[in-house]
Amino acid sequence: MSQRVLTGITTTGIPHLGNYVGAIRPAILASQQPETESFFFLADYHALIKCDDPDRIERSRLAIAATWLAAGLDTSRVVFYRQSDIPEIPELTWLLTCVTAKGLMNRAHAYKASVDQNELAGNEPDDGVTMGLFSYPILMAADILIFNANKVPVGRDQVQHIEMARDVAQRFNHLFGKGRQFFVLPEAAVDEAVATLPGLDGRKMSKSYDNTVPLFEGGAKGLREAIARIVTDSRLPGEPKDPDSTSLSALFDAFATPAEREAFRADLRAGLGWGEAKQRLVEQLEREIAPMRARYEELIAHPAKIEEALQEGARKARALATPLLAELRQAVGLRPMVAAPTAKAAEAVKAAAKPVFKQYRGADGRFYFKLTDPQGRLLLQSEGFDGGRDAGQWVGRLKSEGAAALAGAPVHAADGVSADEIAAALASFAEE
Ligand code: TRP
Repeated sequence: MSQRVLTGITTTGIPHLGNYVGAIRPAILASQQPETESFFFLADYHALIKCDDPDRIERSRLAIAATWLAAGLDTSRVVFYRQSDIPEIPELTWLLTCVTAKGLMNRAHAYKASVDQNELAGNEPDDGVTMGLFSYPILMAADILIFNANKVPVGRDQVQHIEMARDVAQRFNHLFGKGRQFFVLPEAAVDEAVATLPGLDGRKMSKSYDNTVPLFEGGAKGLREAIARIVTDSRLPGEPKDPDSTSLSALFDAFATPAEREAFRADLRAGLGWGEAKQRLVEQLEREIAPMRARYEELIAHPAKIEEALQEGARKARALATPLLAELRQAVGLRPMVAAPTAKAAEAVKAAAKPVFKQYRGADGRFYFKLTDPQGRLLLQSEGFDGGRDAGQWVGRLKSEGAAALAGAPVHAADGVSADEIAAALASFAEE
């Protein structure tokens, strides 16, 4: 069966080498696998949570979209869109907000981190916390659930949000599904094999450490200048070097074949100078990056092409989101004013939604009964009786006495059905 993979990229930054190696390249590769339907989107509503600089949002959206397209994303295979082009997402966010426990959101890491910082600084706990930050996981749940994604590739810090999306989905299914699962329960996919790239100073490459190597920004010159700033020790050309004493080798590795990696390391051990090693690294990076950079620059010069690709993505995405949202509106009671159910019709619906006992004769000629839930799922199965009357009497007792009659009854629960569920089903007969 085909897998639906979905991930969002918050549009506050400009992609660097770490983003490319850790997220963009593996996601594009994964999207080329058979049996995979990929959804990639610019999480620009999420960007508004942490950034109130409109120009920065605009620049980041353009740069990220152009980067993914330049890196080889095939938009005929993948659904590539902007979150803010899909009005069903904020609408679903509200439906989910109404069934999400506030206590669940209190436990979200991002919110808790803000509260902890405030406490340390002696501020009010919610100082500077917007409702956007507080409700962030619900918007993220809507992103995922509106497309019924199975797999969500994310970093470790996001795993809790996927778990919250599952919780909220389950609650919504339970409250409004009447046995139907509107939402698939998504799973986080944390790829342990994907290396986090070290930055100029050897720590993880990250904008917050200011140690990044830009992917396309600043052109070939920008790349060369960043590589020149990689911290090395003071060993001179000719002196043997530890290949792992700087970020050079790890950056090289991420763009090289095993044989090339080995050769680079061997040369460093044999005394290759740091300056020359940096030159080799730049050449190695350029082999992969230069052709993409040319495409990137072409796209940035013609933003209408990017806009067109995103509009096409939005059309594909909405073709799925619009019908699902229509069903959800129906399910929660936001319905056209035509056939408002009368009290009597509502009673009929309620009666129809009861568990049922069925008596039947087995292939062995013996008499049986079983209890199923309103959707027809087996709850309770009897042993065989010699006569139909015996079976009928037990059904009568179970209906009138409920779970109290279970102890002596020749019945067993179906696999995976709890005693509580059976007791509740039996209790519904006693109410009659
Ligand atoms: N919150 C994610 C991040 O900061 C981005 C994101 C938004 C996302 N919506 C999503 C990721 C849905 C996966 C699925 O990285």
